[in-house]
Amino acid sequence: MGTYWSSRLRSLFPDGVPDILNIGHRGAARYYPENTMISFQAAYRMQADMIELDVALSRDGIPVVIHDDLVDRTTNGTGLVSEFSVRELKQLDAGSWMHPVFAGEKIPTLREALLWAQDRIPINIEIKDTAIDDGEPASIVAKVVALVEELQMDHQVLISSFDPVILPQIRGLNAKLATGLLYDRKTQRKQSARKLTEQWGTDTFHCSQWEWLLKKESEQQPPTLVYTVNRLAMMRRLIRQGVVGLFTDYPDILHRLKRK
Ligand code: G3P
Ligand code: MG
Repeated sequence: MGTYWSSRLRSLFPDGVPDILNIGHRGAARYYPENTMISFQAAYRMQADMIELDVALSRDGIPVVIHDDLVDRTTNGTGLVSEFSVRELKQLDAGSWMHPVFAGEKIPTLREALLWAQDRIPINIEIKDTAIDDGEPASIVAKVVALVEELQMDHQVLISSFDPVILPQIRGLNAKLATGLLYDRKTQRKQSARKLTEQWGTDTFHCSQWEWLLKKESEQQPPTLVYTVNRLAMMRRLIRQGVVGLFTDYPDILHRLKRK
């Protein structure tokens, strides 16, 4: 049975949705420092169909591209992302932690990443649940949506989060935006992928490879994108089982597999 792709999702791929979506996870994170411009450029060169990146807010309220709430693992700084202004974040080195050859690489703002991606490749913006301020639930959401609209990229992004509550908020702000639900096993265990995507009104369902293997359901699945699949044997297995998109740190390997 064919996959049901919503019109929002189809609009990300004017030449047709690829049979298997090759999604560069944090760019091409096995080869380049994750969530940096060189990592995104590499994923594009490796023929990824889409690039996933993680977004949080700086202290001065600018959406920035970084995975952890702390800068410690992926930069030469220490402390919470939310305690740095964007100017301070820009002074950090986001490349040397991986290899000295990447010294000087910076944390990108979401604006920089989107400007580069514009008319080039669709972006999956993952809004980190830890960046969502419960006191001000719409702040990061409103900023991301406003930026996407300002750059006229509503047909070029898929916005996802582990926090389902923000997904209808995004749709409420702009009904043209595609959204994806990141499955949270702790709170959503008993519910089917189909029910969850219906409940939160999302275009796609995202889960880990292990969750997918455990959860595999007999009923028709919504379009399911599985992370982070780095082993060739697992890529083959999941594709055989009907997964239609894979997040990978090795978009080159998935590209070669798709060409066979
Ligand atoms: O969006 C897919 C995947 O990136 C979710 O987990 O922790 O790698 O952001 P994480
Ligand atoms: Mg992510």
